[in-house]
Amino acid sequence: MGTNVSNLLYLITIVTFILALRYLSNPAHARRGNQIGAVGMLLAIVVTWVKTGGTSWWALAVAMLIGGGFGAFAARRVKMTAIPQMVALFNGVGGGAATLIALAELHRLLPPPGKPTLDILIAIALSGLIGAISFTGSLIAFAKLQELIKGRPITYPGQKIVNLAVLAACVGLGAALAAGVQDQWLLWAVVAGGALFGVMFVLPIGGADMPVVISLLNAFTGLAVAVGGFELENNVLIVSGMLVGASGTLLTLKMGAAMNRSIANVLFGAFGQVSEGAAAIAAGSDGGTVRSASAEDVAVMLAYAHKVVFVPGYGLAVAQAQHDVRQLADLLEAKGVEVTYAIHPVAGRMPGHMNVLLAEANVPYTQLKEMDDANPEFSRTDVAVVVGANDVVNPDARNNPGSPIYGMPILNVDDAQAVVVLKRSMNPGFAGIENPLFYNPKTVMLFGDAKESITKLIQDVKTL
Ligand code: TAP
Repeated sequence: MGTNVSNLLYLITIVTFILALRYLSNPAHARRGNQIGAVGMLLAIVVTWVKTGGTSWWALAVAMLIGGGFGAFAARRVKMTAIPQMVALFNGVGGGAATLIALAELHRLLPPPGKPTLDILIAIALSGLIGAISFTGSLIAFAKLQELIKGRPITYPGQKIVNLAVLAACVGLGAALAAGVQDQWLLWAVVAGGALFGVMFVLPIGGADMPVVISLLNAFTGLAVAVGGFELENNVLIVSGMLVGASGTLLTLKMGAAMNRSIANVLFGAFGQVSEGAAAIAAGSDGGTVRSASAEDVAVMLAYAHKVVFVPGYGLAVAQAQHDVRQLADLLEAKGVEVTYAIHPVAGRMPGHMNVLLAEANVPYTQLKEMDDANPEFSRTDVAVVVGANDVVNPDARNNPGSPIYGMPILNVDDAQAVVVLKRSMNPGFAGIENPLFYNPKTVMLFGDAKESITKLIQDVKTL
């Protein structure tokens, strides 16, 4: 295949990746985005294979069967609540691949008379290091989310200095490699140091912050792959790596902004230690009373309302109650109630978690309101139904400067005429703090698993 033809096909591949990202930005056409990206990926593989001589097709086929088969199996079988750890694993594999490319490339270039240039050596050291950090960091993130190791931050005195020393040693070894000490063991040492740093860097971060960490490691993987593209002089790798790097960085920043936490606080704040302490911080409970209601009472409130807003949170994902919520919403609409869903950007445990769940239940996209559009609506809402959400509706984020989540934008459900909270107990959510909303005189609690509670509500609304 001529260079011009392969470059043209690579350009098409790059366009498909950009289009895929564009389509992924909206749940209405996210599937199409995935398909376009997959076709682009296949094209890139085939072009690269033909370009590099088209030999050993069976090795490529076996690798694709194993990788593709595992991906398809995981995508079908992994539960929605376990998607963050699946993404962590897949991301780690990407970082590991970038490291392997660096090792293989140096191995190919080094024996005399090979004389890799400075820029190639810098690229090799960088992709080896960043890829290794991403690989082991992602594995630790996976293990924390999968509860194979404790999710709480694992810290010790002087940890940051030790981490910095390991990173500095890696950079020093990488610099020596680039400066002319062209021994392969140096790169192996950089990779080993990077792998150690990946573990040590993620261990002190709380399990619940893992989605942010995974997104950051995803940006690292993108960077490592892009640098790998320089080594191999492959434009598709450079562009696709940069796309991953840029989108991972943006997502990390967006998640931080939605939680009103700096990325430094996520990475170095050991957030999550408080929640495992003697008791969760009782930020606003001040001895108020909690009113519990029966499903019959709540069904009456809903059936005679003009406007009901469902506010889903992590508990909806745990209970897998999305189909039942949709069914309840349909029933209410049939009775003339206006129904919408208010979506907080970090509700649940991964970006777009609620959108994905509700899309699975075929909730019309027009009914989904992002936080900025949803908040002004609460003052004309009769009943806000909080389904397994907690932190994202905690008024302390607005009112209590002493709260760990103070300043985080929330859904102002307490502006509604009445609030119904569906959860199993008075236990706190992710941030480990109490929620004064539960003590608000406007609020009634419907205790129980969200799926069971919604099923009861459906039965009761039907009888009205
Ligand atoms: P949380 O504050 O974690 O609260 C979830 C609530 O769901 C819990 O209070 C729990 O109470 C309830 N629950 C669990 N299982 C349930 C079930 N089967 N039925 C009914 N209720 C159930 O969730 P949220 O409001 O969605 O907030 C998300 C939190 O995660 C935020 O603090 C956010 O900053 C953080 N976070 C999010 C992300 C992303 S990207 N989404 C990333 C990192 C961190 P019970 O145990 O009493 O039932």
